Amino acid sequence: MTPATIQSYLDAIPLPAVFVGIDQRILGANARAVAINPLAGDNQPFVLIFRQPGLIEAIENCLDHQSARKAVYYHTDGPHEVRFDVTLSYVAGEHLSGVLLCFTDVTELEQADQMRRDFVANVSHELRSPLTAILGFIETLQGPARDDPNVRGRFLGIMSAEAGRMNRLVGDLLSLSKVEEDARRRPKDEIDMDALIRSAVRNLAPLAAEDGSNVLYDAPETAPMVVADHDQMMQVFTNLIENALKYGGPKTEVAIHIRDVDRDAGLRGPAWCIDVTDNGPGIDPAHIPRLTERFYRIDSHRSREMGGTGLGLAIVKHILNRHRGRLRIDSTKGKGSTFTVVLPK
Ligand SMILES: Nc1ncnc2c1ncn2[C@@H]1O[C@H](COP(=O)(O)OP(=O)(O)O)[C@@H](O)[C@H]1O
Ligand SMILES: [Mg+2]
Repeated sequence: MTPATIQSYLDAIPLPAVFVGIDQRILGANARAVAINPLAGDNQPFVLIFRQPGLIEAIENCLDHQSARKAVYYHTDGPHEVRFDVTLSYVAGEHLSGVLLCFTDVTELEQADQMRRDFVANVSHELRSPLTAILGFIETLQGPARDDPNVRGRFLGIMSAEAGRMNRLVGDLLSLSKVEEDARRRPKDEIDMDALIRSAVRNLAPLAAEDGSNVLYDAPETAPMVVADHDQMMQVFTNLIENALKYGGPKTEVAIHIRDVDRDAGLRGPAWCIDVTDNGPGIDPAHIPRLTERFYRIDSHRSREMGGTGLGLAIVKHILNRHRGRLRIDSTKGKGSTFTVVLPK
């Protein structure tokens, strides 16, 4: 092998790759490696260019034992830290020997892993509190409260509410996973959004009546037809109207309005925009970008009290993504909030 052959091999590798000779000088680097470190192409001692102890030690070991090694290399790219897993292979050539380093970017894998861990931790935490309450009440009912019918009645009521909470959480988790599973399958039914919203409003009328609230829907002249999944769209509007009623406080007016938009800036095309507006307390702008995250709630105590799981808007967002639509949130503190569903025509 000559340095020129080494270079052409390096250029053929679809990963950042560097070749370090037995004298620990860099003998070649491909363009991808130079993109990580502009000095990688210089014929310099390796330690001066990639100055991370873990990697340096791995190279020395690889050269000493003439066998493969693995290492981790962190690279800062502006505000981001990129993690590379580096594989080091010993290459014994006729004239030139050394170590071939290949860098694999594993940042996204790591992030996905972290998200999965957070998700499992959140779910366990959410399930644990109702479960702890139920177990506590069972114990009391088996012991001190065994013969007190009043206490029994009250405790069973609380247990039933807690079990209901777990049931809703599991239900929402299942819908979330179903939506994720369907994410790549395009919906294909023609849905009359007017009829759909009417039936969502009708289903929620009892909830509105409980608090003296009102849901006003002004129907458009022509029925908006949208290619959509009926059940999922029903879920979207049920979630949004329910939130408006729950967080809008007692005696809220929830208004639903459909707009026909020639060109939506976000979708870059014609769209139906459906606004669900409440005149509740409004949302602080700091929270808005995070509301669609799983388990994100502004006031978790209040959300739980209202029977919320913190998954509603995450489900809405996934469903709208599947429909190539968007969710927009506008809110003014003290005035109220508007959640807009944008669906391509
Ligand atoms: N119309 C609204 N007005 C004020 N806050 C809202 C409204 N809709 C949603 N939120 C906030 O967003 C959070 C997340 O909503 P969601 O995902 O539906 O979860 P949940 O209702 O189960 O708590 C809620 O906990 C609440 O804090
Ligand atoms: Mg909700």
